[in-house]
Amino acid sequence: MKNSPPARLSVWRPTNLSETLRGAPHYPEHVDESYWERDAERLAAAGANVVRMGEFAWHIWEPYEGRFSFDLFDRAIAVLARHGIKTILCTPTATPPRWLTRDYPEVLRVDTNGRVMGHGSRQHCDTTSPVLRAHSRRITQALADHYRDHPDVIGWQTDNELNTTVSESYSPSCRLAFQVWLRHRYSGDIAALNRAWGGDFWALAYDSFADVELPRQMAPSFLSPGHLQDFHRFLAAATAAFQRDQVDILRAANPDWFVFHNLGNLADIDFRGAFGADLDFVGFDIYPMLYDEFRRTGGHEATQAWHLDVCRAWTGNFIVPEQASGLGSQPAFSTMTPEPGEMRRMALTSVARGADGVMFFRWRPAHFGAEIYWMGVIDHDDVPRRRYAEATQFFQELKALEPHLLGTHVRMDLGIAGADFDNQEAHKTYPIGLPAPSDDANLLHRAAYHRGVACGLIHPEDDLSPLKVLYVPHWVMWKPEWTPRVAAFVAAGGTLILSAMTGTRDIDNHIHRELAPGAGLAQLAGVRVEEFGRLAAPGATGLGMTLPERFPGAYADPTPPPSSSALRKQHFTLGNRLFETGHLYEKLLPEAGTEVLGTWSDRWLEGQPMATRRAHGKGQVIYLGTYLTPELAEQVVETICIPAGAKPLLPELPAGVEVTVRQAQDRALWFILNTQAGPTLVPSIPKGRDLLSGRAVGGEGLHLGPYGCAVIRPE
Ligand code: GAL
Repeated sequence: MKNSPPARLSVWRPTNLSETLRGAPHYPEHVDESYWERDAERLAAAGANVVRMGEFAWHIWEPYEGRFSFDLFDRAIAVLARHGIKTILCTPTATPPRWLTRDYPEVLRVDTNGRVMGHGSRQHCDTTSPVLRAHSRRITQALADHYRDHPDVIGWQTDNELNTTVSESYSPSCRLAFQVWLRHRYSGDIAALNRAWGGDFWALAYDSFADVELPRQMAPSFLSPGHLQDFHRFLAAATAAFQRDQVDILRAANPDWFVFHNLGNLADIDFRGAFGADLDFVGFDIYPMLYDEFRRTGGHEATQAWHLDVCRAWTGNFIVPEQASGLGSQPAFSTMTPEPGEMRRMALTSVARGADGVMFFRWRPAHFGAEIYWMGVIDHDDVPRRRYAEATQFFQELKALEPHLLGTHVRMDLGIAGADFDNQEAHKTYPIGLPAPSDDANLLHRAAYHRGVACGLIHPEDDLSPLKVLYVPHWVMWKPEWTPRVAAFVAAGGTLILSAMTGTRDIDNHIHRELAPGAGLAQLAGVRVEEFGRLAAPGATGLGMTLPERFPGAYADPTPPPSSSALRKQHFTLGNRLFETGHLYEKLLPEAGTEVLGTWSDRWLEGQPMATRRAHGKGQVIYLGTYLTPELAEQVVETICIPAGAKPLLPELPAGVEVTVRQAQDRALWFILNTQAGPTLVPSIPKGRDLLSGRAVGGEGLHLGPYGCAVIRPE
């Protein structure tokens, strides 16, 4: 099922799969063996070609230390294979068995308060522990040896959602491993560590690496940002090393296997580093309703699109090893349930944004354990109902799309800088109450999503040439080597939008000694930041700013000028619309030749520049000296991105319809998906064939029923 070794990491990279993956995580160990044949028949009848098994079954594979038992899974794999279903196995290291934690208690994770994790749930072990790593290599080797020539085992998932429950450990072995990692990072020179961490601040200099502690926040006060940043770099390196042990063993056993990991919450994993480079592709578990409920980010359809685009930025196209099929719950919470038709629509959204395989979580719900109400494709009573019907429809559609789909990438006209571990962590070392880069990026993504602009995330080291616009969301740790890359993108006609605080610190979190933006960005943007400070949250009293009508205004009726009391709030006008702003102001010093696009509107900053534009080659660099709000994000899309060529894909997009293009040199596939429970009409679409219905479309527009979907291949 894999047709080549993995190519270099890139958001534009297709997977190296020769077939789409269609199926479900499956737990034969949770039911009587009398169910197995029927399960296999139903999976095959639905059009599935694969199941994923074994991620929590270490206790079955190795019931006693060194005594292995493969019978149960051998039989399960054989029953499935008779019906044409292949198996993806998992290294079972997310749930080390009781004999292991009893006999080797030093493998247990320790939290920041020194509390040792107990045996009784999952992900209780410390992946930095050399003892755990030795056992992880042992079980992986035993599984690899047993299955190396098995014709029906086609690939592996490493572990399960590494770091999702918790990514940090404060165990003695973690402390030692951190010290060893630091010694290597600073080439054995403790003075270099002291310089990087600012050891002369608060007397935090060390005499030796053996003296360095694990950083415990607020115990009793704030930590050096350098210390904290390096701890998270270390955790990411340790997670990659834990996985590499397993990948090396699996690849040596059978180079034809594909190997992936299923991402959970992305904590302390650098997918663009060794962790992602070691894999064939990544897997991303998609539970948009879960996140929406917890994070209140708005509609779950936009949340799903965001998660998929975040994921794709790291390594390119991916698979979805777990996609929500019904109500999800663990003892303390439950999620909304996809409505009839929505499970299929959500699966097609994943495909539209880069998935080359989708597995619905899970084949059948558990009858015991901590997820008894996490529903599956079939129900507790073993009766297939609406979710089975939708899975069947989707699997057959995905199979039909396969020859068109494989080898395509997702079109992106607007790229938002993402997938950078250092910047993600740098914000966390010193957030000062400001939105994270990902919060800001999410606002622009959401505005572009609703407008139907082809948008996603991309790392500055990736190929920027297909983009029209690149937005950088407050990356404090902008690296000097990225500047020539974005300069070349602009020179060739691109629009670069830099935002406040970008390029203010070096890789050790030291503030640059010249005015921001540093690392060569000031020369490119033709502007420097003379002063900056906090603004109150939107809605409170603060500063205002004015962006005059030089921006092509998208609004016909000018908003009346604010009254003087309104001026004391945080307002600005962009185009001819009044906006409220918040979070941070920067007072800009433009160089000669740099145009002032916007000014602050009141009090001591009245008339001072807050947004600038500089032409460079065939393109332009825009600097915005503040943070996005939802309204400003919409306006950036309307007045900067669209005029710069990141245009809506369709001239008219009804609310609740999402549009995405997957393309290769010789073809394009337009995914037009109705995310709403009512019917809709998309007035103007490309003329071609809808690969889902087989019908010719175009001309009179596209009628979509509730959660209706079309995938158009234009003629
Ligand atoms: C995933 C996890 C699965 C299951 C699922 C539903 O994050 O990988 O094992 O727990 O969520 O909770």
